[in-house]
Amino acid sequence: MSKIIVMIGAPGAGKGTQARLLSEKYGYPQISTGDILREMAQADTPEGRDLKQIMAAGKLVSDDVLADLIEKRTSRPDCQNGYILDGYPRTVVQAQQLEEMAAWQKKEVLLVRVVVFEDELMKRLTGRRTCKKCGEIYNINFRPPQIAGVCDRDGGSLSQRADDNAETVKRRLSEYQSATAPLIDYYGRNGRLIEVDGQLPVDEVFEKLCHVIDNFGIRAA
Ligand code: AP5
Repeated sequence: MSKIIVMIGAPGAGKGTQARLLSEKYGYPQISTGDILREMAQADTPEGRDLKQIMAAGKLVSDDVLADLIEKRTSRPDCQNGYILDGYPRTVVQAQQLEEMAAWQKKEVLLVRVVVFEDELMKRLTGRRTCKKCGEIYNINFRPPQIAGVCDRDGGSLSQRADDNAETVKRRLSEYQSATAPLIDYYGRNGRLIEVDGQLPVDEVFEKLCHVIDNFGIRAA
């Protein structure tokens, strides 16, 4: 049976960093709902403007928008053999929708939680910089590029996300506590959530995740 790898964690826990590495290693597409929504928010339409406002305020986009988005994206041919969800589900309703979707897609779900203490998250998020060309993720405090503002991989310029300022980060963390943290109980009750220490250096977190994924029966591409 093909698989869905689900990355759960607070904003800044390292879901995107790790999902990118896992996608390279296992050949599964990385589906980042944040990236897809940022792209949709560029459109100069009522929907695009709405999304931009919600995300700039650090609030969550509605479950209905997410259900439609995730169903369309995961029905593309590149998802047939499995995929990685980065940033979804984020509410109990989304978790229920994912279970239904996995059942009719005949896919098995692996849930991994990347755990990081809250006081580290603010530093990680306000220090994050992302390459405009390839999406590589840096951090001015923890993982700086060799030349400030320039991607080591392809020389692209690095930018800061609009929602990575201190005020919006506080709001995102509080949304996480109220809407997403209950998922930990929801999944934890069935003993389905595997936890990985996200405070370790990036390569050590990756190693631990690979161990969990290999045990789940997924082979590297
Ligand atoms: P989204 O883009 O998903 O943002 P997020 O969940 O807040 O997560 P981040 O991308 O900020 O963090 P991350 O865990 O991926 O960390 P990263 O690897 O980049 O969502 C944005 C918005 O979209 C939401 O606020 C909401 O409005 C909307 N949205 C998205 N999905 C939704 C959904 N399902 N439902 C409703 N609304 C939705 O790492 C962060 C930094 O830390 C980087 O600089 C990195 O270099 C550094 N770092 C990573 N790992 C380590 C490490 N081990 N040690 C030191 N530094 C590290």
